[in-house]
Amino acid sequence: MENMDDLKKELLAEVEKASDMKSLEEVRVAVLGKKGKITELMKNLGGLSVEEKKEMGKSLNILKSDVEKALDAKKEELATKELEAKLAAERIDVTLPIRPEQQGRIHPVSKIYEEVVAIFGEMGFEVAEGPDIEDQFHNFNALNMPANHPARQMQDTFYIPNPDSDDKDDSFVVRTHTSPVQIRTMENHPLPIRIIAPGRTYRSDYDATHTPMFHQVEGLVIDKTTTMAHLKGCLYDFVKAFFELDEIPVRYRPSYFPFTEPSAEMDIGCLKTKNELKIGAGTDWLEILGCGMVHPNVLRAGGIDPDEYQGFAFGMGLDRLAMLKYGIPDLRTFFESDVRWLKHYGFLPLDESSMTGGLSNNGGLAR
Ligand code: PHE
Repeated sequence: MENMDDLKKELLAEVEKASDMKSLEEVRVAVLGKKGKITELMKNLGGLSVEEKKEMGKSLNILKSDVEKALDAKKEELATKELEAKLAAERIDVTLPIRPEQQGRIHPVSKIYEEVVAIFGEMGFEVAEGPDIEDQFHNFNALNMPANHPARQMQDTFYIPNPDSDDKDDSFVVRTHTSPVQIRTMENHPLPIRIIAPGRTYRSDYDATHTPMFHQVEGLVIDKTTTMAHLKGCLYDFVKAFFELDEIPVRYRPSYFPFTEPSAEMDIGCLKTKNELKIGAGTDWLEILGCGMVHPNVLRAGGIDPDEYQGFAFGMGLDRLAMLKYGIPDLRTFFESDVRWLKHYGFLPLDESSMTGGLSNNGGLAR
């Protein structure tokens, strides 16, 4: 039996030595093939006595199965190695080296957008969206501005012809405000509603504080007992958080919007000097948004019963907020895509705005 143990050692060592699939196959043939070592030994069993045959046969069978197991294990090991080598050889590096001379910046409007979403998100508002190209129903009629309503003229609307109709009332518009998202939300969202809708808006206007495309954020809250007091509290908390001040004087002036009743404009206290605008102190006032209680006609147009539900809405210019908060004097420069401007006024990427981690992260200012 000693022979058997030696033979086993020898055969397993040969299996272990095989360095690729080809040499492993050669080992297999040399041991288990037609003229292989174990096969030969088995053939010789015939010349032995019954007792010896039994004994030897058993040992050979065990040896054969041990060698087979070793061959299988080695085969698997070599296959994995070959696959790894193949993958390594075919590897393609799809990354590009960074180019430090081309550092990107976050545009101030994107930054303000994130800040506003962070503040209202913390208060439990969802972000809603609507299309830039609107029909007149959502941009005007449903907002209590029927055809020929004088407020339509105030908005310097860009019209887009409707290929299916010559009737002027059927033409599309690029939305003049984000208020159509109020209607779209009422149509689709279960009650109660608490959304903000930031996005692009368009009016035919161009000077230091007006560009044909600009950004607004709309707010809409509708529930059974929502009141003007909620509106005031909500917007007061917003401006404090937004301007990152503990206290800020605010006032509401009566105003007019067709879609709210009563309507108001909100001012914040500031100090205007020749070269500076200081927000949060002083004797001057700065208008920052329009707001009011949603007009019953608007609720009705959105499919909501005004005898059961009521709510408030507000709208403000994101670009204007960016100009005020970050001291940028001319709105037109926002959209000129001048990288020098962006380098000066932009923000470093990865400075996420959050109520807990800091809104504007002044340390992260690129300036
Ligand atoms: N849509 C108004 C505007 O563009 C702003 C506004 C929104 C006012 C909601 C009241 C309520 O000027």
